[in-house]
Amino acid sequence: MRKEFNLLFLLVISTIICSAQKYTNLAPAPPMGWNSWNFFNCNINEEKIKHMADAMASNGMKEAGYQYIVIDDCWQVSRDKDGYVIADPNKFPSGIKALADYIHSKGLKFGIYSCAGRLTCQKRPGGAGYEDKDAQRYAEWGVDYLKYDWCNSEGMTSTVQYSRMRDALYKAKRPIIFSLCEWGSTKPWLWADTVGQLWRTTGDIQDRFATGHGVLKIFDEQSKIRQYNKPNAWNDPDMLEVGNMGLSYVESRTHFTLWCMMAAPLIAGNNLHTMKPDILQILTNKNAIAVDQDKLGIPCFLWTKANGIEAWMKPLADGSYAVCFLNRGMSAASLDFDLKQIANDPDFKKSYSIDGGYAVFDVWNNKELGTTQKNITASIKGHDVLFVLLKKK
Ligand code: GAL
Repeated sequence: MRKEFNLLFLLVISTIICSAQKYTNLAPAPPMGWNSWNFFNCNINEEKIKHMADAMASNGMKEAGYQYIVIDDCWQVSRDKDGYVIADPNKFPSGIKALADYIHSKGLKFGIYSCAGRLTCQKRPGGAGYEDKDAQRYAEWGVDYLKYDWCNSEGMTSTVQYSRMRDALYKAKRPIIFSLCEWGSTKPWLWADTVGQLWRTTGDIQDRFATGHGVLKIFDEQSKIRQYNKPNAWNDPDMLEVGNMGLSYVESRTHFTLWCMMAAPLIAGNNLHTMKPDILQILTNKNAIAVDQDKLGIPCFLWTKANGIEAWMKPLADGSYAVCFLNRGMSAASLDFDLKQIANDPDFKKSYSIDGGYAVFDVWNNKELGTTQKNITASIKGHDVLFVLLKKK
């Protein structure tokens, strides 16, 4: 009886998920943009968001591939008598449509935040029961990207709630990227590829490197679900902390490298207006970004460990490879590594054989390091990486 009930439940859920539609091919590569939460939290207003758009449009980020300016929680205050959501008139006096128009005028795209529950995480009006009205408004305003959270959803079923919003967005007739944010709590990698284009796989990132729920902890969690990543269906290990207070320069660079190696969405979370040039250089490194945006969308796997350094490999569409040597320790470690080896990808069930015929290119130092014929040698600082590309000669 219980087995039959489970089967019936699964049938109902899969019918609900599959019977409606979403726009296709909105995110062939992991989305790139900026979101207000990691730096500003609730402390947002239209001037700050416009400043961020100005920065992105003029500092090289737009050319590097960043597109979306996303306002996170706290832009909304209540609903009107017809149930339509109202933006905070003090913080957004010109209204959301005007802000979207401004962002579009800069050649960028506009993203917004809401929640599948009754209230958002900061207790603003949530989307439950108002999906059609919200989607209609978003389409009128010119929203291009919706991040949809999971607070205050007690008693609700994620597949049902998120599918409702997926359907409402489709009915509203505007292609809007749908970014699910239920923190991996109901394994979205198993069902959300028919619902949205990306899904959070984890709780909130902390602005730290080796401790707490920081960069390394999240990176380690992702290996177990890497086989679910593919174009238009991305695991999202959360937004970047690159350039924020809790990370040193080297840690920011390692963080960015690991997210590129995972083919993760690159949603910056720092103050784009005041960031230092070296942080901008990290965020706009074209070789690192090309690894992230590679059209295979295969996340890295652990190739081998050598002398306390991990070697992670990511196969790329043109037959080259990205390899990241990661030093998790606090002090420098030396690398002396023969790249002529076979790498077995356990999840994608493929083997890659590296011979002596590859040129080795150092991404962060922007220089050729010879070929795979000879060992690669380096001293890698604590928490640093050596990030190389192996290109067939
Ligand atoms: C969390 C979410 C964060 C941020 C925050 C806003 O649930 O994971 O990324 O959006 O809510 O309240």
